[in-house]
This record gives sequence, C-alpha cells and structure tokens, in this order.
Amino acid sequence: MINSRIIVALDYADPAQALDLVSGLSPQYCRLKVGKELFTRTGPAIVEKWVSEGFDVFLDLKFHDIAHTVAQACTAAADLGVWMVNVHALGGRKMMEAAREAIDRSSHRPRLIGVTVLTSLDEQDLCEVGLFDTARENVLRLAALAKKSGLDGVVCSPREVVDLRQAQGVEFCLVTPGIRPQGAQLNDQRRVMTPMDAIRNGADYLVIGRPITAAKEPLSALLDIQAEIAAVLDSVTA
Ligand code: C5P
Repeated sequence: MINSRIIVALDYADPAQALDLVSGLSPQYCRLKVGKELFTRTGPAIVEKWVSEGFDVFLDLKFHDIAHTVAQACTAAADLGVWMVNVHALGGRKMMEAAREAIDRSSHRPRLIGVTVLTSLDEQDLCEVGLFDTARENVLRLAALAKKSGLDGVVCSPREVVDLRQAQGVEFCLVTPGIRPQGAQLNDQRRVMTPMDAIRNGADYLVIGRPITAAKEPLSALLDIQAEIAAVLDSVTA
C-alpha cells in the first residue's frame, strides 16, 4: 500500500461523472477530495460509498460557524469515516478548539486542517474585511493560531510551504492545491508549482484536480504524477 501524497479534487456538479472517474482510480494510488458542490448535490452517501471502497476522503466543507455548530459538524464528518476535514481559521481559537475536542471524542478521528486565507482574495479584498496585513502575514498568523488551537495542519498555496514548514515544524501537515505537472494547462490557476517542487519544498499532500480528472486517461495521469513524487521522496531518503 502506497502512502499516496495525491488527493484528487472531485469538482463535479454531476455525481455520475464523479462516480465514473473514481471507478477508474484506486485507493492504492490516491485519496479523494469532496467539496461543497458535489456534497451539496449528493449528500453523504457518495462519501460513505468511497470510504467503504477503501478510499481516504478529504471532506472539504471548510466549516465556519459558532463553536458548538462546528464541533457538531466535525462529529458528523468523523462519523462518516472521512480521513480529513477542514475548518476556517478565521472562525477563531475557540471554534478550532471545539472542533479539535469533538474529533478527539469520536471513535474515528480524521485529520483536522485549517484554511487560512483563501487564495482568491487579494490584498484589497483583505483590507475590505479588516485584515490589513499582507496576505503572507495573515497566512502565517492564522497558521500559528491553528496550530496553537490543536489543528493538525493547514491548506496553503505551494508558495507558502517553505515559510510554514519553517515556522510550524515537521509535524504540521501542509496540504497544497495549485499543482500543475510540467507543461500541463493552467486552467484558472495562476501561481502554480510542479508536484516535484511542492514535495521537495515540504508539502505533505497535493490537491490535484483537472490535470487528473480532465486527462484522457486519468489513471495514467495519476500514475505519472505518483512516479514523479516517488522519485523526489527516494532521493530525499537515499
Ligand atoms: O483542478 P485544480 O487542480 O485546479 O483543482 C484544485 C482544487 O483545489 C479545487 O478543488 C480548488 O477548489 C481547490 N483549491 C484551490 N486553491 C485554493 C484552495 C483550494 O485550487 N487556494
């Protein structure tokens, strides 16, 4: 069993397409990310199905609410058997601590990850909501708060991995989207990094959507990226 670093983002409106894609993949080579769109259309059944097939599922619902509500939502996610769940660090320390406690009380304990600053927000957007530091400063501050509140890690841009690894240490889990293999289409991503560079910089898991889901042969695209990552990891441990 390979401890895959690849999380395939299932950004589908049509559950049939997601089911078709996943039927051609294997839990041996990837984990799956289910986000708000697919989850809102299908409900938890699709998550339970993939969990029962042996897939590690990252339930990317970015909970952000009062502490009690987020804690209850985390308990519900843990009961689904997901591998990873996330909350907004901007929900604050008490909310994150409540999420941590809820997961620690569950018999199945998913990894609990924070979202710092959405990469869709530029510095003017941040100022408009009263976050006057630079995006980088906000990310570093919120990641530190997430760790202090007991979270296992954060979702971050590949450009933030080196700073966060240095600031938060080797145990802190860094999950990065914005990954494109050399020569792949950028789609709507702007500042991307190759799988090889992101892993070399210290990312733990790579969230990859269209380079796999829109490929003619998704399993073959996945295996190519897996091989690229394995080469980096082998060179680090050699
Ligand atoms: O298809 P692509 O590889 O661009 O998909 C990236 C996935 O990561 C999508 O599910 C997207 O919503 C998510 N994501 C992102 N950038 C962030 C946070 C999440 O692309 N900053």
